[in-house]
Amino acid sequence: MPYTVPKLTDYSAPALEKAANECISACTAESAQVRTDADLKSFRDRWMARKQGILTQINDRWLKDAPKEAKREAGIQVNALKARITELVEAAHASGAPALDNECLDISLPGVRRPIGAEHPVVKTSNEIVSVFGKLGYSVAEGPVVETDYYNFEALNFPPDHPARDTQDTLFIAGQQSTPARDRLLLRTHTSPVQIRTMEKMRPPVRIVIPGKVHRNDPPDASHSPMFHQIEGLAVDTSITFGDLKGTLDHAMKALFGSSVRTHFRPSFFPFTEPSAELYVTCFICGGKGKRGYDPCRPCKQSGWIEVLGCGMVDPNVFEFVKDNGYDPKKVSGFAFGMGVDRLALLKYGVDDIQLFFQGDVRFFEQFG
Ligand code: PHE
Repeated sequence: MPYTVPKLTDYSAPALEKAANECISACTAESAQVRTDADLKSFRDRWMARKQGILTQINDRWLKDAPKEAKREAGIQVNALKARITELVEAAHASGAPALDNECLDISLPGVRRPIGAEHPVVKTSNEIVSVFGKLGYSVAEGPVVETDYYNFEALNFPPDHPARDTQDTLFIAGQQSTPARDRLLLRTHTSPVQIRTMEKMRPPVRIVIPGKVHRNDPPDASHSPMFHQIEGLAVDTSITFGDLKGTLDHAMKALFGSSVRTHFRPSFFPFTEPSAELYVTCFICGGKGKRGYDPCRPCKQSGWIEVLGCGMVDPNVFEFVKDNGYDPKKVSGFAFGMGVDRLALLKYGVDDIQLFFQGDVRFFEQFG
């Protein structure tokens, strides 16, 4: 016979307790019968439904109907009972018998193995470049990715409204119309702002490399990404010459790409270096021949040369911005360079689409493990 809520005639504590215990055993027995989700639902409804559920009936018959003098005791008993029944109903689940009858622990099973990750090819390339300069005595500096107009442009000798700014398709942070122009925030378009930040903090001589993320408003394709990586270099001391720049970069390229590469400088323009140059290395795919067997060499567009970075002697106008920290352009000189790490990683690993670096597909990255 399914449990029904008895009417009470005796409201004494022992009588209430007995009634409560019967109710609890009935509920326990019913909860053990629950097998399916449908069972669970009707079990819940039977006990908890607001209108006709057993708990409501108990409330009516044992509490509301209790004579005045028994109300207090009945209240205590009924509340305790409600709490217990609610617990039982909430613990019931559709797995049938209580959990431990079905489950057991097999301690001989091996644990879940977490695969060891591989270094990202861009990070790996970046670390290699940094370590080549580390051996030459360079230290590492970093700066913010969200930068001000002052550091990204103005202090690098890009005057406001100068057309050279157009060469860097800049992503500005929105809603800054009321901010003074030099404080406006943007995503840095190159790592060069860290040249200024470093010179503000460190007096000369400095020798630093600056790896980091940069952003430009370029639509993504096989060779462009709105986010990419650069490594900047800066050396400042008394009497640093263009010869030092050439020697340092020639050494670095041989260390990175092999001792047989040759380097070659072509004049260029950057507002913050004067003179400026682009550095080319002999194509390390075709060895500078422009051909692979009878096929044209694609990475160097058959020229035998690959452009790897921009560089030059620090423009005296740049030193003017940090003059007070020991960078009097009449006393110090220096060189700077900046290279795109992702492009070098593409060439180095023979990857033909830069997007692969940033899509996070494990099958691609496994190849570098
Ligand atoms: N910042 C330049 C760029 O992003 C590269 C560069 C760095 C050129 C340092 C000269 C000196 O294109």
